[in-house]
Amino acid sequence: MAKPSKKAPSTPAAKASGAPAQVTWGGRFASGPAALMLKFSESVSFDRRLAPFDIMGSQAQANMLAKVGLLTNAERDALIHGLDNILGEIKSGAFVWETSLEDVHMNIEHALRKLTPAAAKLHAGRSRNDQVATAMRLWFKWSCSHLYHALGEVLRVLVEQAEANQKVVLPGYTHLQRAQPVTLAHHLLAYAEMFGRDRARFLEVAEHANWCPLGSGALAGTTLPIDREATARELGFVDSQGRVRLTQNSMDAVADRDVFVEFLAAAALCGVHASRVAEDLILWSSAEFRFVTLPEAFTTGSSLMPQKKNPDALELLRGKSARLQGHLQTMLSLIKGLPLTYNRDLQEDKPPVFDAFDQLSLGLEILARVVEGLEPNADACAAAASDPLLLATDLADHLVLQGLPFRDAHHAVGALVALAEKLETPLNKLSDADARKIAPKLGANWRDVFNTTRALAAREKPGMPGPKQIAAQITRWKNALKG
Ligand code: ARG
Repeated sequence: MAKPSKKAPSTPAAKASGAPAQVTWGGRFASGPAALMLKFSESVSFDRRLAPFDIMGSQAQANMLAKVGLLTNAERDALIHGLDNILGEIKSGAFVWETSLEDVHMNIEHALRKLTPAAAKLHAGRSRNDQVATAMRLWFKWSCSHLYHALGEVLRVLVEQAEANQKVVLPGYTHLQRAQPVTLAHHLLAYAEMFGRDRARFLEVAEHANWCPLGSGALAGTTLPIDREATARELGFVDSQGRVRLTQNSMDAVADRDVFVEFLAAAALCGVHASRVAEDLILWSSAEFRFVTLPEAFTTGSSLMPQKKNPDALELLRGKSARLQGHLQTMLSLIKGLPLTYNRDLQEDKPPVFDAFDQLSLGLEILARVVEGLEPNADACAAAASDPLLLATDLADHLVLQGLPFRDAHHAVGALVALAEKLETPLNKLSDADARKIAPKLGANWRDVFNTTRALAAREKPGMPGPKQIAAQITRWKNALKG
C-alpha cells in the first residue's frame, strides 16, 4: 500500500496572512489573521440575523453618548442615519457581508465607518461582549414573543377541533392498552394544557431576558461617564411599571448564558409536547386504529408502494424534538467549564439557539395546520370505545356505591372480567346468577353502567371529561385566547 504522501505545508496560512491588521482590534498586530483562522472563527454566517437588534443597540448607544457629551448632536445624527441606511441595505439584501470581518457587529461597524467618521467614536465604553449580550437579550424577547403567538395558533386549532368533536368518544389509554372512555375533545384539550404551559414558559424566558447588560463593557464597565439607564430605557428593558432594568454585575452580565439555557429548555419541552401529539396522531392514522385521517398536504407517498400515505410531517416533528433536546445539552456543556468571564467558546451559544427557534417555529406552524386539517372518524372511535371492559372501573364504582370497599370491589370486578373471558362473553352479558355469585352486592341496575354517554355524564368534577366540564373548558380557552 502506498504511503500517504506528506502534503506540502500549505502556504503562509499558518504564519501571517499578509492581510492588513484588523481594523477594530488590530492596534497591537502587524498583520491580520490567517485565512484559515477567519474561516474557523467567523460567526457572521449565523449571527447576521442579529443585525436589527445590534443596530437598535448601537442607536441607543449613540443617543446616550450624545446625551453625556461624548458625541456632538451632529455626530449622533450621522450615526443614527447611517445605521438606518445600513439596516435598509441589509433588509433589501444589498448589504455585502464580509467573513473577514468576523461577526455581525464588526460588519456593521465597518460599514458605518464608510458612512461617517463618527463611527470610530461609537464603541466608547462598550465591548463586543456587552454588545452581543444586549443584542441576544433583545433577540430573545422578540423570539419568545414570536413563539408565544405560534403557540397561540396551535392552541386555537386544538380548541377549535375540541369544540367540533365533543361527542366523539374514543378509548383513553394507559400503557397503550384501552383504559376508559374519553372524548376526542378531552384528549385534544390535554395537549392544550401542555402547550398553554409552554406559552407561559416562553413569557417567563422573555422576562428573564429583560435586563440590560449594555455598559458592562468587556467585563469591568468603563471609566467613561455613560448612562446605563438611558440605553436600557430606550431599548425597552423596563418592567411592567416602566422601571428600568439593569444587570447588576458586569462580570455576570458578559459571562452568563442562563437565558440561553432556559430558552432551549422551554423549546426542548415544547418539542417533546409536539412529539407526543405527533405520536398519537401517527398511531391514530394507522389502519389498526383509523381514528383520524390526516390532511393530505402534510403526508407523503411512497416511491415504491402506490397505496402509501405516510405521516411524514408528524414523524419529522417527533424527530426534530430530538434535535431540540440536543441543543439544550450542547448549551449546558458549552458553559459548564468556562472560567469567568467571556471566552470565545461562547460564540458557539448562537447556532443551537437559532436552530431551535427556526425548527420550533416551523414545527408549531406545521402542527397547527395538521391539527386543523384532521378528520376524525367518529365511527371507528366509537367502535373502539364500545368495549364494555372500558367501563369495568365504573362497575367497581357501582359496587362502592352499594357499600363495598373499593379494593374488594376492584377484586370482584377483576374476577367478573376473568369469568367473562373464560365464557367468551362480553362483561355486560354475564348472567345475573353468574355475576352475583362473584359480586352479591351488584344492584338490579348493574348493566346500566355499560353506557358510555352515562359514564361520561357522571364525570363532571373539575378536570374530568364530562360534557359540561368540556364545554366549560372550551369557553375558558376561547376567552384565554381572545385578543
Ligand atoms: N461574535 C462574538 C460572539 O458572539 C462577539 C463577541 C466577541 N468578543 C470577543 N472578546 N472576542 O461571541
